[in-house]
Amino acid sequence: MKQMVVTRFGGPEVVELHEVAVPEPGAGEVRIKVAAAGMNYADIMQRDGLYPNGPQPPYGAGFEVAGLIDQVGPNVTGWNTGDTVMAFCQNGYSEYVIAPAAFLLPKPVELTFEQASAIPCQYLTAYHALLTLGRLKAGQTVLVQAAAGGLGTMLVQIASNVGATVIGTCSTAEKCTLIRDLGCHFPVNYAEEDLGTRVREITAGKGCDLIIESVGGDTFDQSLRCLKSRGVLVTLGVASKNVPTVNPVELLANNWTVAGFHLMGYTTDAEAMSDALADLQSWLADGKLAVIVRHVFPLELAAEAMRQISDRKTVGKVVLTTV
Ligand SMILES: NC(=O)c1ccc[n+]([C@@H]2O[C@H](COP(=O)([O-])OP(=O)(O)OC[C@H]3O[C@@H](n4cnc5c(N)ncnc54)[C@H](OP(=O)(O)O)[C@@H]3O)[C@@H](O)[C@H]2O)c1
Repeated sequence: MKQMVVTRFGGPEVVELHEVAVPEPGAGEVRIKVAAAGMNYADIMQRDGLYPNGPQPPYGAGFEVAGLIDQVGPNVTGWNTGDTVMAFCQNGYSEYVIAPAAFLLPKPVELTFEQASAIPCQYLTAYHALLTLGRLKAGQTVLVQAAAGGLGTMLVQIASNVGATVIGTCSTAEKCTLIRDLGCHFPVNYAEEDLGTRVREITAGKGCDLIIESVGGDTFDQSLRCLKSRGVLVTLGVASKNVPTVNPVELLANNWTVAGFHLMGYTTDAEAMSDALADLQSWLADGKLAVIVRHVFPLELAAEAMRQISDRKTVGKVVLTTV
């Protein structure tokens, strides 16, 4: 079968197509015939060798898929051959993957396989960062950085669905139009507007209750200054590859909380996961959550897809397909 392998740390050129054996599921595992593999910014950070505790090359890239169970290993209950699923896995950019049955989610009927590949990482991250960790409430104001991206488009919609006022940043007028259509009340094109000035205008000088920050560097510093007293900034990524530093005296002087988020710390929280999946189902049924998929590449073009994400040319979810 085909598998996209990161052969060494480096740029997109290190991602190569390899022919490997179709894997067999062990106890507690299933094999999935992959229809769509989700691409995430973390795949790029891992390829660059910048991801904390990331895989060592050579490794199969990707960690989330949507597809069809085509073989069930021993000691698996509740899942059958032919079930359509979404899953966390290793070697996601492959024609077949092995996934622990415990990490499977049923594919919602409302979603195509391409759309479903956005749920394990980007939907769940957005949900838990805003609601489980950030405790966002109706009437509060949230600032979402990189709001037109895969994660960002989920953040905007979930925050809007719970009744928050949403300020979203992005780099072009087209991206601003997209996030406005998804429920962002105040899109800010940071290439043309000063974010701090806009946030002060929008919040009557108070600042935001919650900020979801995924860019790092100067953007992290600017974000912190948009926080109100006793506000919370959730940091969950460093897309700029520029790691910021935090001054504890500045935090205490302003009663600011900076909280780190990583999805893997939430996937074993049964209650929070059940809430996330119940809300997903209800928002999909009510037409209140759209999965934006405008960039679909064949598996073999994984390196080109990564290039386009790094060059900020993409919006919403980027997907690799096997057919
Ligand atoms: N901690 C977790 O569990 C977790 C889970 C999922 C995602 N994340 C993080 O969330 C962020 C978004 O992930 P994603 O997969 O949804 O990617 P994405 O948002 O689709 O793509 C990254 C976006 O970041 C913005 N950006 C700003 N400065 C950038 C720079 N210097 N280089 C590249 N992009 C820059 C760009 O949007 P503009 O051009 O509009 O600024 C770009 O489109 C990443 O930092 C990722 O690591 C973390």
